[in-house]
Amino acid sequence: MTSHVRGVIARSKGEPVEVTTVLVPDPGPGEALVAVQACGVCHTDLHYREGGIGEDFPYLLGHEAAGVVEAVGDGVTGVAPGDFVILNWRAVCGECRACRRGRPWYCFATHNAHQKMTLEDGTVLSPALGIGAFVDKTLVAAGQCTKVDPAVPPEVAGLLGCGVMAGLGAAINTAPVTRGDSVAVIGCGGVGDAAILGARLAGARTIIGVDIDPRKLEWARQFGATHVINSRETDPVERIRELTGGNGADVVIEAIGRPETYLQAFYGRDLAGTVVLVGVPTPDMRLEAPLLDFFGRGGALKSSWYGDCLPERDFPMLTDLYLQGRLPLDKFVSETIALDQVESAFAKMERGEVLRSVVKL
Ligand code: APR
Ligand code: ZN
Ligand code: ZN
Repeated sequence: MTSHVRGVIARSKGEPVEVTTVLVPDPGPGEALVAVQACGVCHTDLHYREGGIGEDFPYLLGHEAAGVVEAVGDGVTGVAPGDFVILNWRAVCGECRACRRGRPWYCFATHNAHQKMTLEDGTVLSPALGIGAFVDKTLVAAGQCTKVDPAVPPEVAGLLGCGVMAGLGAAINTAPVTRGDSVAVIGCGGVGDAAILGARLAGARTIIGVDIDPRKLEWARQFGATHVINSRETDPVERIRELTGGNGADVVIEAIGRPETYLQAFYGRDLAGTVVLVGVPTPDMRLEAPLLDFFGRGGALKSSWYGDCLPERDFPMLTDLYLQGRLPLDKFVSETIALDQVESAFAKMERGEVLRSVVKL
């Protein structure tokens, strides 16, 4: 029986989002119906609304979510009704060229639900990142549900589904930071602060947070930055070198997605060091730098897609660390809001007032 529930949609480019009735089919083979309990507001949701990701309006927004499995379709064995799960956008296929080479975190054919959620007039919705979770119930591929300890509050657990995992994973999976490393993180929003946490977890010795907003630098310290740099006032490359014995950091993580901050990362790193780009640039951006520096400085220039995470491996591990008091994920939750407050949460996000607003359902 189709469920009629409330959901937040972006009907057309640039228009404010709206709460409307969404029709969610019962799960078919390989699918799961999840009662969403909490869903974080991410930049990507705003990018969908602005038409920056595609033109497949209307979009059903929301993708950083946790909830309880309500029903599963035929053939689903990994999760069962009643399971507390984090939703992920990397349900690996096991068959693509990346999966076959033993690198499933690059999977190029991740699973989503086959059936479509719709509006009452039958209009098919495009779910954000193949999830769509600003909604009372959502339909996903069963592999998009990762079971974790139900002792974790849903507003905390859900954040691992996207931005916080991206930042943590940039440090612990992509770089990867190892014990004793010096690390600089450029951009201390939710993603950058998660990278700082990841660097601390991995045993970094020096962790430098760089931002232009003093409020963000204060938060960065709370997440474990040993030093902070206001790059509006101080040249970050010079200061990173000063703080690392004149050399530059072993790892620099760029968590903004801009050419000028990418170059700060590139030159703020030690010879043979590693740069990780986890911030997402826009199509118009260009990089200009002497090619000789790319050769002469050596090392590794990496990008981190979703923190190179494997949800089945990483989510239960990270939630366990949270429950042990070793990973203060609750500090990312700036506020909890209702479903009809997503539009105002976008404005707060743009003004830099929050790390994460989380919708509680
Ligand atoms: N130099 C230093 N810091 C900057 C600069 C700059 N030129 N421009 C912006 N910042 C800082 C902002 O002050 C803010 O603290 O970068 C931070 C960006 O954080 P958020 O806007 O909160 O974004 P976040 O959710 O952390 O995502 C960062 O990662 O996944 C991607 O799409 C996401 O590209 C985005 C990036
Ligand atoms: Zn695959
Ligand atoms: Zn996201």
